[in-house]
Amino acid sequence: MNMIKAKDYKDMSRKAANIISAQVIMKPDCVLGLATGSSPVGTYEQLVKWYEQGDLDFGNVTTVNLDEYKGLSRDNEQSYYYFMHHHLFDYVNINPDRTFLPDGMNPNPEEECARYEEVIRSVGGVDLQLLGIGHNGHIGFNEPGDAFETMTHCVTLKERTIEANKRFFASIEDVPKQAYSMGIRTIMMAKKILVVVSGEDKAEAVKQAFFGPVTPQVPGSILQMHPDVTVVADEAALSKCDLV
Ligand code: GLP
Repeated sequence: MNMIKAKDYKDMSRKAANIISAQVIMKPDCVLGLATGSSPVGTYEQLVKWYEQGDLDFGNVTTVNLDEYKGLSRDNEQSYYYFMHHHLFDYVNINPDRTFLPDGMNPNPEEECARYEEVIRSVGGVDLQLLGIGHNGHIGFNEPGDAFETMTHCVTLKERTIEANKRFFASIEDVPKQAYSMGIRTIMMAKKILVVVSGEDKAEAVKQAFFGPVTPQVPGSILQMHPDVTVVADEAALSKCDLV
């Protein structure tokens, strides 16, 4: 695991955007696995800037997102579909037909999860998967549990996740209780993984996920088993780890 120390959120975002840029430059028709949440927002902002400056071309890039709330339509401002358009897709030359997310409006989990796995398979798998990490160590929406969920599945969100995500909704009752998420196996099949993490409130999750035992109680800990993981963490997020 390659642990890159960043000064703060801005520095983390620039470093992560540099790694994604390198991927797009090295393989213009790559498949990027993308994430939502506040952690990658600055990374997307930086990518948009470099695109505007003419340094990046998304014309042949394909994207697959990690997850989507179940029951939210694409035009709902809290849907991850909306998030991705608002933070990246609408501002770069990506072909919208080459951007994929789970369909939160499909009421049939079995059908939707199988469809999404097939999407990932049909694009040839993920070259570089971007990830944030939740306070309880979740990745995508893979919540702590007794076993690692393998493939794309329908998740019932943990209280702590609903609590953390309520800041984006009018009230806690509006936060969806379920989501479709890539599974741990789906994520681990990516050729490369890039984790962005910032802030003191994530320090415990960082310590447990990257320096603790590998356990389904901390889903992100599985990343220790991946052969090509880069974590870009700021000083605050690393404050509970004994790094020099
Ligand atoms: C959500 C997303 C995750 C994200 C996590 C952390 O639950 N499904 O993909 O990593 O939140 O979000 P944030 O970056 O806002 O702390």
